[in-house]
Amino acid sequence: MKSTPTPAFDPALDPTLHPNSDAGTSRDAIGLGQVAGEGLNTRHGTILTLENISVSFDGFKALNDLNLYIGVGELRCIIGPNGAGKTTLMDVITGKTRPSHGTAWFGETLDLTKMSEVQIAQAGIGRKFQKPTVFEALSVFENLELAQKTDKSVWASLRAKLSGEQRGRIDEVLETIRLTASMSRQAGLLSHGQKQFLEIGMLLVQDPQLLLLDEPVAGMTDAETEFTAELFKTLAGKHSLMVVEHDMGFVGTIADHVTVLHQGSVLAEGSLEDVQADERVIEVYLGR
Ligand SMILES: Nc1ncnc2c1ncn2[C@@H]1O[C@H](COP(=O)(O)OP(=O)(O)O)[C@@H](O)[C@H]1O
Ligand SMILES: [Mg+2]
Repeated sequence: MKSTPTPAFDPALDPTLHPNSDAGTSRDAIGLGQVAGEGLNTRHGTILTLENISVSFDGFKALNDLNLYIGVGELRCIIGPNGAGKTTLMDVITGKTRPSHGTAWFGETLDLTKMSEVQIAQAGIGRKFQKPTVFEALSVFENLELAQKTDKSVWASLRAKLSGEQRGRIDEVLETIRLTASMSRQAGLLSHGQKQFLEIGMLLVQDPQLLLLDEPVAGMTDAETEFTAELFKTLAGKHSLMVVEHDMGFVGTIADHVTVLHQGSVLAEGSLEDVQADERVIEVYLGR
């Protein structure tokens, strides 16, 4: 096994950071080389730093000089009217869209604007899209197994003896998403909400440090929405979460910090009560 370089920071100072013990080797396997051994340096308590980000589509600015900072372990909600730039923001963070201006750092040292989508996912940013994309013909367990292997296929095939550890993580995730009793069930037979939970589980088995979730409770029953709120509150702290959601009741339940996007920029930030009382936010939502 390769030796990993000594991190340039003291992980003991950062109790929320859980560096993956296989980080160096698995990332070496897909050619990430020096990013690999460093772990994620979050010395200043900020996991994501976006500064002066602009994205232009044929001259139209979907994001316009946007600044956003997400703390380690934070649960941040992003709200804003349709077309505000919420999805584009997630596209920039995951490397799907390149900003025409600005900087995007994951931790202190990873420049997201220079990494591929695969590298960004491997570095620890997981994204859940609105529509669940589970493999309906496979069982719940197999879906989780596949998600875990897809991420680390080379690693998994090289070190089959880790399967006990991987199995343990899958069992843990099954508990977290409350699907232990359904683990042998075909995923296609799950309710819409359970499919959403399974997909969150498929991210969790990859141990992401930052989770991006686009409208996670759309189409869920009240009970499922309630469980999602509980789940996210449990995940915060261990992970950092960025949640785009229209359901204000849900936002009010989970978020202590809300960012309002409008025309590609941050219009307001603070508690939900604060931003809802903000005249500029009221204007944007009520079109006054
Ligand atoms: N690929 C694209 N080409 C041209 N315009 C786009 C593209 N993607 C998004 N836009 C535009 O950018 C703006 C922001 O879109 P989006 O990020 O999807 O907003 P939101 O998710 O907040 O509804 C919208 O006006 C949208 O039409
Ligand atoms: Mg959107």
